[in-house]
Amino acid sequence: MRILAIETSCDETGAAVLVNDKKIKVVSNVIATSLEIHAKTGGIIPENAARAQVGYIMPVIIETLLKSEGIDSKDSRTDFISAREILRDKIDAIAVTSGPGLIGSLLVGIETAKTLSYVFDKPLIPVNHLLAHIFANYINRKEDEISYPFVGLIVSGGHTDLLFFTSSTDYKWLGGTRDDAAGEAIDKVGRLLELSYPAGPEIERRAKTITKPIIRFHSPIINEDNFDFSFSGLKTEVMRFVQKEEMTEDLRNQICYATQKAVIDVLVKKTIKAAERLNAKLILVGGGVSANQTLKNTLEENTSIPIFYPEREYSTDNAAMIGTYALINPREKNWKEVNANPELYFT
Ligand code: KG4
Ligand code: ZN
Repeated sequence: MRILAIETSCDETGAAVLVNDKKIKVVSNVIATSLEIHAKTGGIIPENAARAQVGYIMPVIIETLLKSEGIDSKDSRTDFISAREILRDKIDAIAVTSGPGLIGSLLVGIETAKTLSYVFDKPLIPVNHLLAHIFANYINRKEDEISYPFVGLIVSGGHTDLLFFTSSTDYKWLGGTRDDAAGEAIDKVGRLLELSYPAGPEIERRAKTITKPIIRFHSPIINEDNFDFSFSGLKTEVMRFVQKEEMTEDLRNQICYATQKAVIDVLVKKTIKAAERLNAKLILVGGGVSANQTLKNTLEENTSIPIFYPEREYSTDNAAMIGTYALINPREKNWKEVNANPELYFT
């Protein structure tokens, strides 16, 4: 099966072509980002994201389709004609993120996918963005490398959730954040420190420079016997600290270290507790924060259960993970049955 996947749940506009040929392979993957616009506002303003996506969506899909056949033409008119032929002749189904996400952003992807599905008579496969973050781990791996049951940790800018999977379609939600997501907390601290947005990569870079930590922030609810998280207090703690200190570059790096540590400690503790208690064979991590090397190292240092992470380019939002989930669970629908669901959680 060859799939065209579309992802527009937040600020990225992504399209990818994938095949399932012994393992899941990404034939082409294109992402247009409106990050520069959000960097100016220090965060995502939904209306700005959706407006940018309206402009990006067709060029991104066309470029992906062309790339899937090794064509790299920039002539928009001929591009469109050959991209149309590729979609018509080579693609078996269209996968699209149906939620959760920002409603305006989701609608751009959903309505485009529905239109293409109708015009080209291709089945449509709606995909839950959160599950797709976990299943990004199947990309370039043989399906039998991933054995069940496993614990999935989703750590992104919008979500922090722990799930227990007994098959690719059967899972139980164990717990999640009660307020801010892990990435959101990191980005908010980044704003306090006047770092670039999103702050995760820079906080990680700065934290690495610290050999002698001098600050410690709390890891909220780390000792509660549940699988929940809470990160909104961390921002307040950092804010209070920043207000009473004179800022220097070294102090900024120290704050980055302490922030990262506070987030990672609770993620690691609860994820490993879940995996060990439930006799999981694996831990699969997904979402933008899973790109963090210190998170990976700390998890590995604290358990003998094997841990998988997606390749870096598939840990942040992308369409390849949407196509991957659709290839593993090809639940085809008529375009009339598919709608954007910003509140879609785990169903
Ligand atoms: O999954 P993602 O691309 O978007 C959402 O679905 O939210 O995640 C973006 C989040 C941002 O908060 C960003 O700061 C964080 O992932 N992030 C990182 C790193 N790279 C991205 N956080 C910590 N360390 C990183 N290296
Ligand atoms: Zn995401």
